[in-house]
Amino acid sequence: MRSNLHFDKDDLLAKNKAHAVHPWHEFGRGEHTLLTDSEGIYVLDSDGNKFIDGIGGMWAVQIGYGNEEMAQAIADQVRRMVFYSPWSMTTPPHAELSAKLATLTPGDLNRFFYSTGGSTANDSAIRFVHFYFNVMEQPEKKHIITREDAYHGSTYLSASLCGKPGNDDRMELIKDFIHHLSSPNPYRRPDNMTVEEFRDAKVKELEDKILEIGPEKVACFIAEPVLASGGVIVPPDGYHVGCLAVCRRYNVLYISDEVVTGFGRMGHFFASEPVFGIVPDIITSAKGFTSGYIPAGLTALSERLHQDIVDKAGESATFSHGFTYSGHPVAMAAALKNIEIMEREHLMEHSRDVGVYFQDRLKSLADLPMVGDVRGVGIMGCVECVSSKKTKKAFDKELQLGKRLDTKCQKYGLILRPFMHLCVFSPPIIITRAQVDDMVGIMDRSIREVADDLIREGIWDGKD
Ligand SMILES: Cc1ncc(COP(=O)(O)O)c(C=O)c1O
Repeated sequence: MRSNLHFDKDDLLAKNKAHAVHPWHEFGRGEHTLLTDSEGIYVLDSDGNKFIDGIGGMWAVQIGYGNEEMAQAIADQVRRMVFYSPWSMTTPPHAELSAKLATLTPGDLNRFFYSTGGSTANDSAIRFVHFYFNVMEQPEKKHIITREDAYHGSTYLSASLCGKPGNDDRMELIKDFIHHLSSPNPYRRPDNMTVEEFRDAKVKELEDKILEIGPEKVACFIAEPVLASGGVIVPPDGYHVGCLAVCRRYNVLYISDEVVTGFGRMGHFFASEPVFGIVPDIITSAKGFTSGYIPAGLTALSERLHQDIVDKAGESATFSHGFTYSGHPVAMAAALKNIEIMEREHLMEHSRDVGVYFQDRLKSLADLPMVGDVRGVGIMGCVECVSSKKTKKAFDKELQLGKRLDTKCQKYGLILRPFMHLCVFSPPIIITRAQVDDMVGIMDRSIREVADDLIREGIWDGKD
């Protein structure tokens, strides 16, 4: 860790509490930890406590913290040409990055629109789909199908695509053209149903929904390959292939939201084809796209769709959509450098290798008290705690079990991401096998101690 700066913790936290509104802010509460330094897979708080960053910032810091080469590339671009309107101008990193991405995306996804993050990448995808069908003279095709447990962002449109519990608490959402399917979570499948039967039922549910709305009205299906924030839900093998086949049957476009699964988390720049066997019409990404060093989002569009528009509308097809910071030169330079580092350091191979080890080690937690399910793929995973392994009954929401586990883990030097009774992991992909051992070791100890605490406090009977 490099900085020797002194921070007045009490002063900063008082200022923060008085004036800063954070994402998912708990009005009336709003306690935050002050992080002041970082290196590799570690972050430090203002008291000098060092933590393994078990969540990679938030599914983002793939190449790790404090990468000097990345800092230099960003600084160089700031000095050379920090920003100009992307409307009629381009810059070297904007053009270079687009050409480079075309070599990394599957199929014919060779056209790239840039935004400021995952939410705006998904908004851009949906707005493009609506634009596409308007140009194609199919203006009825507006409806979007998404799923329970999905997370696609926090703009008005992308928030309306989400399906996580609590998503609509006191919030307004678009309801009239967005439809939710049930979650493809195999752990929560009905008793006496095989995983294959469950998969087939989920694929059929998509087809039934398209037929119910009317295929002439359905524009697209949007899906994370793995429902990340919903609790790292890995749908059964063959699910994505089945859903894509249904979409093709009814001219419904398939958007694969790779905001989390892209850029190395599953050992590939894009996971859709190599891991899940599909070439969608649109892929969105963000987070690992710049390893979190600069905000940026990516919407990759199929060449076929692009050509359809050109053929149909010729010169006059203006996509009336864009952001001041679309293709921001510094973000483009950071994304290019990120890809260069990942390729040179063989981080995809590393991620595939450590990913297998990580999954294996995580599974070792499955026999601990309270642990109902341990799941994941690549370098992302989730431990789901239940009050009864037999009935899979969740703990009461009010218990905030995930938070309890996070607090315990922090005591031993690990930050994870709690969500209700779920604990999510997505460390930087540079993590080594030894560091995976450290991480899982802390989790193991924390689960045992929290289980003992619950029994001592009379909250849980300890019977599985
Ligand atoms: C799958 C997925 N899509 C979209 C988003 C939204 O990205 P952002 O927060 O950068 O807008 C997220 C954020 O966690 C995500 O996990």
